[in-house]
Amino acid sequence: MICDPLFPTQATQATQATQATQGNPFTTDGEFTIRRLEQADAALFLAHLQNLSFDHRRDRFNGVVSDDWLAGYVREALDKALVLGGFDQDRLVAVAELHNNGTRSGETAFSVAAEWRRRGAGTQLIAALLALARERGLVRVSVETGPQNLAMQALARKFGADMHLESLMSVGTIDVAEGLRQVTGSGLAAGTNHPPPSG
Ligand SMILES: CC(C)(COP(=O)(O)OP(=O)(O)OC[C@H]1O[C@@H](n2cnc3c(N)ncnc32)[C@H](O)[C@@H]1OP(=O)(O)O)[C@@H](O)C(=O)NCCC(=O)NCCS
Repeated sequence: MICDPLFPTQATQATQATQATQGNPFTTDGEFTIRRLEQADAALFLAHLQNLSFDHRRDRFNGVVSDDWLAGYVREALDKALVLGGFDQDRLVAVAELHNNGTRSGETAFSVAAEWRRRGAGTQLIAALLALARERGLVRVSVETGPQNLAMQALARKFGADMHLESLMSVGTIDVAEGLRQVTGSGLAAGTNHPPPSG
């Protein structure tokens, strides 16, 4: 989980199966859709992060970051990471990031707009991200967040993360295959594969 501003390489119940399709994962339950974000989505991504409350921005980045810093972060993340956006119609309401430096391990980060929390958006996004990680040959993804961030810890544990305290941070690892088994085994996300958007 990349939440650290010093490490800049860094959304209803879940009802849909999530599969990475041709590098462009896309799920929908008619209300919440997920697609890959590109540089063309930078303004949407930036606005989403800027709209997080002070506390949630701090939770996301494990520190206080400025709007200007966020603008640079968004450009770099869209350039170097795999970024998934969760949409309520045209509005970007949730983002998941997968950062990887060429190894078989990845680092993840999540942010869900306040009004979309506890509705399964984070669960759908993490399922989509794990499918994408598997497609890219990753075997595990790491989770790192503040000890106060019970929401992120609960979300990670749903997918088998062994969350524990380490250097005052809550850290854990999700085995990609095991996390995806949790998705199918528990019905966390079961449903339909949708084609990637055209273009
Ligand atoms: C962490 C976060 C991404 C979770 O997203 P979400 O869409 O609310 O997650 P879900 O609705 O899929 O919930 C996942 C699980 O976490 C639990 N959960 C969610 N919020 C919780 C909270 N505040 N306290 C305890 N558990 C919580 C849910 O009950 C759910 O478990 P369940 O399915 O067994 O009921 C969201 O709260 C967020 O964006 N926080 C601010 C940014 C941040 O902290 N990012 C993570 C660090 S990088």
